[in-house]
Amino acid sequence: MIIGVPKEIKNNENRVALTPAGAKELVKRGHTVYVQHNAGEGSGFTDAHYTLAGALVLASIEEVYGVAEMIIKVKEPIEPEYKLIKEGQLLFTYFHFASYEPLTKAMIASKAVCLAYETVEKTDRSLPLLVPMSEVAGRMAIQKGANYLEKPLGGRGILLGGVPGVLPAKVLILGGGIVGTQAAWMAAGLGADVTIMDVSLQRMRYLADVMPANVKTMMSNEYNIREMIKDADLIVGAVLIPGAKAPHLITQDMLKDMKQGAVVVDVAVDQGGCIETCKPTTHENPTYVIEGVVHYCVANMPGAVPYTSTLALTNATLPYAIQLADKGWKKAAQENPELIPGLNIINGDIVFEGVAQAFNAPYVPVNKYLED
Ligand SMILES: NC(=O)c1ccc[n+]([C@@H]2O[C@H](COP(=O)([O-])OP(=O)(O)OC[C@H]3O[C@@H](n4cnc5c(N)ncnc54)[C@H](O)[C@@H]3O)[C@@H](O)[C@H]2O)c1
Repeated sequence: MIIGVPKEIKNNENRVALTPAGAKELVKRGHTVYVQHNAGEGSGFTDAHYTLAGALVLASIEEVYGVAEMIIKVKEPIEPEYKLIKEGQLLFTYFHFASYEPLTKAMIASKAVCLAYETVEKTDRSLPLLVPMSEVAGRMAIQKGANYLEKPLGGRGILLGGVPGVLPAKVLILGGGIVGTQAAWMAAGLGADVTIMDVSLQRMRYLADVMPANVKTMMSNEYNIREMIKDADLIVGAVLIPGAKAPHLITQDMLKDMKQGAVVVDVAVDQGGCIETCKPTTHENPTYVIEGVVHYCVANMPGAVPYTSTLALTNATLPYAIQLADKGWKKAAQENPELIPGLNIINGDIVFEGVAQAFNAPYVPVNKYLED
């Protein structure tokens, strides 16, 4: 198959969808890989790295879209790319269709095959191509929180791990899923006093088993949260209710009970945030202060560490990309049911029910396209 890897053109996006190692795997299997000039630059991969791996470098994005049967990307196509997409072309990338109607309409009009990273789903209902970015964001939340707790950055001037003779900081993590677990490992490793709150007893039993002694678990409810925030130095928002907005577990009036200079890192900002006063910020301007509490609410945290994020993402996407390249999307989906929910739009039809519902648009069951 002919595979194209364009350079991401969305503002501040430095990740790339295929590493030189990934290109080598595909080339080894007889596929042709075209990479746009400087596509890997932001993640630390030069054109020469790709050429050595057997890929071919093309000067322009037009040439990459023009030649490829399958486009592998990171972010959803943006307006200037719409006209480059060809009928029947397979696009394998994050789309998040339900949140943006113009993109959905453009992909319907293109008659391309849109396979979305975010809806590829394993039989245990986990989302293997979302997990890596949650892992990155969870680990980063503590790094950022520790940083903003420093006095010159507006924090209360406390070191997460304390020192001998001085108590460590208290870290409260709301939600013990992927983000919360990774945050807890990092905070615990630095010696902080960590509490994870969740509503799932089963999840907390697991966490209590695997976490070190400086991590405790506690049922998430309003009473407990009101008590815990009084003492917290750093709070990480990591709640997710699939398909819904995050619940506001900390309301504006509760901020008054918190310590001056405490820090909130609301990773769940992309779902509206679990702190009422959370509003999306950027890496250029990541924080603001309300009631003396520093808020860090960057919606694309992994974007700040493109090297790690690119490797983490491509470790997860490459096995699927290989199946798609080897077999074509139809046979690959017939033989691997994990890919079927990834199919969102085919030949102008919305084949993912949630997207059709979001826009009150006609829905065509995907089976129409999977039968021989
Ligand atoms: N800002 C970023 O850059 C970025 C990056 C990656 C992920 N995220 C977001 O982070 C959030 C968490 O993602 P995840 O992968 O960890 O999800 P997850 O599904 O693995 O975990 C969510 C956890 O929240 C728990 N939960 C649900 N309701 C709760 C409540 N009322 N109180 C406490 N816990 C509750 C669930 O039981 C679950 O354990 C999502 O909104 C995700 O989109 C943001």
